[in-house]
Amino acid sequence: MCGIVAYVGYRQASEVIIKGLKRLEYRGYDSTGIALVNGGLNVYKKKGKVSELETYLKGMDLNSHIGMGHTRWATHGEPNDENAHPHYSATRNLAIIHNGIIENYASLRKELTRKGHTFLSETDTEVFIHFIEDIYEKEKCSLDEAVRLALTKVVGAYAIVVMSFENPNMLIAARKGSPLVLGIGKGEFFMASDATPIIEYTNEVVYLNDQEIALVDNGKLTIKNVANLPLTPYIQTVDMELEALEKGGYDHFMLKEIFEQPRSILDCMRGRLDSASNRLILGGLREYIKKLVNADRIMIVACGTSWHAGLVAEYFFEEFCRIPTEVEYASEFRYRNPIIREGDVVIAISQSGETADTLAAIELAKSKGAIIFGVCNVVGSSIPRFTHAGTYTHAGPEIGVASTKAFTAQLTVLNMIALIVAHTKGTITEQKFHEMLVEMEHIPSKVERVLKQNDKIHLIAEEFKDVHNFLYLGRGYNFPVALEGALKLKEISYIHAEGYPAAEMKHGPIALIDNEMPVVFIATKDSSYEKVVSNIQEVKARKGRVIAVITEGDKLIPSMAEFVIEVPATHEALMPIVSVVPLQLLSYHMAVMRGCNVDQPRNLAKSVTVE
Ligand code: M6R
Repeated sequence: MCGIVAYVGYRQASEVIIKGLKRLEYRGYDSTGIALVNGGLNVYKKKGKVSELETYLKGMDLNSHIGMGHTRWATHGEPNDENAHPHYSATRNLAIIHNGIIENYASLRKELTRKGHTFLSETDTEVFIHFIEDIYEKEKCSLDEAVRLALTKVVGAYAIVVMSFENPNMLIAARKGSPLVLGIGKGEFFMASDATPIIEYTNEVVYLNDQEIALVDNGKLTIKNVANLPLTPYIQTVDMELEALEKGGYDHFMLKEIFEQPRSILDCMRGRLDSASNRLILGGLREYIKKLVNADRIMIVACGTSWHAGLVAEYFFEEFCRIPTEVEYASEFRYRNPIIREGDVVIAISQSGETADTLAAIELAKSKGAIIFGVCNVVGSSIPRFTHAGTYTHAGPEIGVASTKAFTAQLTVLNMIALIVAHTKGTITEQKFHEMLVEMEHIPSKVERVLKQNDKIHLIAEEFKDVHNFLYLGRGYNFPVALEGALKLKEISYIHAEGYPAAEMKHGPIALIDNEMPVVFIATKDSSYEKVVSNIQEVKARKGRVIAVITEGDKLIPSMAEFVIEVPATHEALMPIVSVVPLQLLSYHMAVMRGCNVDQPRNLAKSVTVE
């Protein structure tokens, strides 16, 4: 969480930074601040979003060629002006921005308080910069050396940038466990939590690795690690279009991303799948395919929506590959001493590639000798770098906090992985393999057809926007879709929603059903269709209000449900990619009608980089 951005060069630093912070607001938006060297080392910060800081800064003299900014998702201390970043050191000669958590900050604070330091905020970050300055003064060393020495003593995760009044051409950055990218322009340097604030100016970047420190001083970049070993910067080119970071005429990023799905699913398959030549290739898998084919068990670790994608994948791997598969919340996996045997393969799924719980689960599985595959969207993020092999989903930047196109791309990739493994292993017939490839190629146009029902879904949302509870039910492949539909609704509209396997309803949730309870059934024509029809009747008998996602042409369910949304028929393994789309739209419209901030829902952040 938290977005950090810094700049030194010939432009107005405040303009680059404010623009960059807006791009990073998906990471947190509790408070915002910037620091500039303009006369002195000046910090300007405010509770609230970047727009509130902008209003506060209006009319001020912000002339400076160096600066840094921060958008916060609160961990230590409530969101207010004092706890906002940047934070000053004791003498106000230094300032810091920080993403992460310093776990031993309480003992450092105690030690510094004993030495006479006073603190203005409750944050671990303010302690961090006081600690750096304390070392700087005591050791009489260079500032980057003081930062390095401090880093050898702190415990926890960080991406930091430090600025000083005495060195107005210098930025020092370091990372451990939280992402940091350096942008290298002509006569200018950028630092940011991801590449989105940078690509407008340069596509040459260096992804800082854990325990590395970057020093930009008078137009020169040097990198060393915390052990003081000099390193050669590895400059890479990022491939990202600026327009992917704009709303492109849509009211919200979420809506844009929902509508991008036919394209993002296609992008995900591009160059990888071709039914005409019966070809399905994932370059990232090649080296480890044998491990997967021979796996005794697959363990999937992920969080949130990515976990739901994992639940769908469990069905793929068991049905097509006949490999026992378990899906774990990454946050639980690491706290129960999991048994990992030789022959187990772990798949980590993450849009951001930065989720702290998923990273920690990977670390644990690795320490027990497992082979780890990553399925990630953000290129160059931490998870692809910590896993043995993997596949990018290529969905493009997902800015809305609610995950939509990343989910359908994850399902597409996971399905491709399962088909490759099954084909290599011989657990799928040639004919079935070919049929699946053909059907996958039709998915983008089928999703397009679902999107055409946007107006109808808008009307349904109108009908239910004021309710307090929702139930989502599905079976088989559509059960994880029910969970995902419920998550989408609660996270952006703040309506309480639960997802259940439809048959579980009678074991408890049925008690909730009365004439005010809307129940969304994902009831497409698949192997459990008849059973789901019975579940619909059970809800009807108790006067529940039924909204059903059904297969085009179904004549039975429309006679029972109050509202139906038709989706095109497809293979049941691929149905989640199609059937989730109306649920994304339903939650989007309800949230907008309720006046919620769809792209930045309260208390949430796009990438959860703290435990
Ligand atoms: O970046 P990741 O996929 O690892 O993120 C996992 C969850 O934090 C994420 O899916 C979250 O649940 C979304 N807000 C759901 O829309």
